Amino acid sequence: MEVLITGGTGYIGSHTVVEFQQAGYDVVVVDNLENSQADVIDHIEKITGTRPHFEIGDIRDKQALNNIFEMYPEIKHVVHFAAYKAVGESVQQPLKYYENNIGGTINLLEILQERHIQNFVFSSSCTVYGEVDKLPVTEDTPVVKAMSPYGNTKKICEEVLYDQSKISNLKVVSLRYFNPVGAHDSGLIGELPVGIPNNLAPFITQTAIGKRQSLTVFGNDYPTPDGTCVRDYIHVVDLAKAHVKAIQFLMHGKYHDHFNVFNIGTGRGNSVLEVIESFEKVSGQKLNYKIGPRREGDVVQIYSACEKATNILGWKAERDLDNCMESAWKWERHLKDLSKS
Ligand code: NAD
Ligand code: WQD
Repeated sequence: MEVLITGGTGYIGSHTVVEFQQAGYDVVVVDNLENSQADVIDHIEKITGTRPHFEIGDIRDKQALNNIFEMYPEIKHVVHFAAYKAVGESVQQPLKYYENNIGGTINLLEILQERHIQNFVFSSSCTVYGEVDKLPVTEDTPVVKAMSPYGNTKKICEEVLYDQSKISNLKVVSLRYFNPVGAHDSGLIGELPVGIPNNLAPFITQTAIGKRQSLTVFGNDYPTPDGTCVRDYIHVVDLAKAHVKAIQFLMHGKYHDHFNVFNIGTGRGNSVLEVIESFEKVSGQKLNYKIGPRREGDVVQIYSACEKATNILGWKAERDLDNCMESAWKWERHLKDLSKS
């Protein structure tokens, strides 16, 4: 029951560590702390009462990874989050993204092959679908040319995993996340964006708390009900639980193929203005925002069909948009309290 979680001190990884621990797994985290902080481990311990094993290390360093597998010979499953994720930065520095996201994954897969470790869950993204004609998006929707080097790393990693699963005992679940938002109910872990956030939810909460002056809504002249873009916002705790279901699915051998993809979303689309409205409702605060020009590269609308995950993994999103915004707001206030102390 030992699971290795790469990138386990990051935003989605930390919530996933909690869910695995609460499901009775022994968790080993490896993270190089490039985009997260070591005290996340203390916070996880506070939530679950158990401290996960934590090794600072880089997944591109084969020796370091091998040492971890030597130290924890009971590792049977790997959940792989460690990657860079900033879409804009990936356009400016594509090699950085290809080297870490693809190079790191290949390094890890080589070691898994040598050590006969079979169960692998990969963090993919709805970005692999690009702009779609038909909604909601099912897993049969064709994967298109990626809109950014970041998106391309997800597409290529899925192909690498597919090919490797064909010639080895590797069994893969690739989870295509829609838009992860929110934070743990405890307010102890959440997203820690570095610098000015690119994503909507942290920009909203940072504006409300006074770190940013105003939110710009990127365009209100799209062909959507209120003119703003539509996304499928999935609570990070729901998302984290999908990883536990994915490992259990691989463990219990209910799969036909060695490579399986699942959409992980709510099945609902919400516009930018609806997200703002939800935030204002749960926080009781008016948000300072203005309508600005469209952001280059934004897809107009996308939301998931998640019946495959429900029918095969036994997973379904349980939390709604209000819950996402409420927990994100609690987390932002927690960060403010920390900065004062
Ligand atoms: P995050 O940056 O918070 O977490 C990633 C973690 O990986 C960080 O703690 C970072 O320090 C670590 N890391 C990066 N490179 C590493 C390396 N070479 N060796 C060891 N550790 C390394 O990001 P997140 O939002 O938690 O995303 C986790 C995964 O989910 C990523 O693969 C991301 O691409 C994917 N994903 C994220 C989103 C999103 O909107 N957050 C959406 C879809 C997919
Ligand atoms: C959501 C909506 C914006 C900020 C990105 C990645 C994707 C995936 C998830 C990893 C859009 C609007 C945003 C702001 C705004 N990540 N917005 N003002 O673009 O759907 O997806 O994160 O795999 O690959 O591209 O998420 O949170 O940036 O934007 O109006 O200041 O909010 O236009 O409609 P996105 P987002």
